[in-house]
Amino acid sequence: MIVVLTGAPGAGKGTQAELLSQRCGYKKLSTGDALRKHVKLGTDIGKVAGAIMEKGELVPDDVLFKILKEELGAIGATEVVLLDGYPRNISQAETLETLKATQPVKAAIHLEVDRNDLIARLSGRRVCPSCGSTFHVTENPPKKAGICDKCSSQLNQRADDKPESIGVRLDVYEKNTRPILDFYGKKGLYKKVAGIGQPETIYKSLKTVIDAL
Ligand code: AP5
Ligand code: MG
Repeated sequence: MIVVLTGAPGAGKGTQAELLSQRCGYKKLSTGDALRKHVKLGTDIGKVAGAIMEKGELVPDDVLFKILKEELGAIGATEVVLLDGYPRNISQAETLETLKATQPVKAAIHLEVDRNDLIARLSGRRVCPSCGSTFHVTENPPKKAGICDKCSSQLNQRADDKPESIGVRLDVYEKNTRPILDFYGKKGLYKKVAGIGQPETIYKSLKTVIDAL
């Protein structure tokens, strides 16, 4: 089954998907991570997606569906899949419905965070280019400034975490992605979890919702 983890850029989807997959054994599928892998490898998809992502806009739906099918195909039908970053518009949500015979969506959990908090989180985020670990300069700092706790690589700032891209991403979320909350509401699948506070507290709330599915 699929659990859609949705919310604005910086809401903590990646942080929580990582905790839930590590501790509960769920599979996590982040379309943003998959796209960044393509960009790093310089694939045809990466060449198309890189510039779009850096600006903060959405990569075309057909590219995303190709990635989704590829990644889901590698995951067994009996697994719990946490889908982070897809769907991002109504058309993607409708496309996801076409997979429901094998991978039904059981819930769309919305991590809700205020815009000012989102901007602070995205501006302070640092990521490890080697192992993918995520930190924040004040909220979740690495033990040694600028160095990954797990693999000792130099931490980076994501290309789309620059102020101009952050603004575009938040606006794109409001215009294109927020309507999916209503889409899942009408299907009785919408769940809301407060995305502020300690990551541990948010993790417990999410686990309670998923356990009840
Ligand atoms: P994607 O990688 O999905 O980015 P996003 O949705 O903008 O979300 P983020 O990864 O920025 O935030 P997050 O919610 O994962 O937060 P995180 O846990 O890191 O997509 C990137 C781009 O790819 C898109 O803009 C688009 O171009 C393209 N793309 C991807 N999917 C697509 C699709 N389906 N269709 C079209 N295009 C697509 O946390 C953020 C920071 O906050 C971190 O520093 C973290 O340490 C900190 N933090 C986390 N939790 C807390 C907390 N509780 N308190 C304080 N700080 C916290
Ligand atoms: Mg993320």
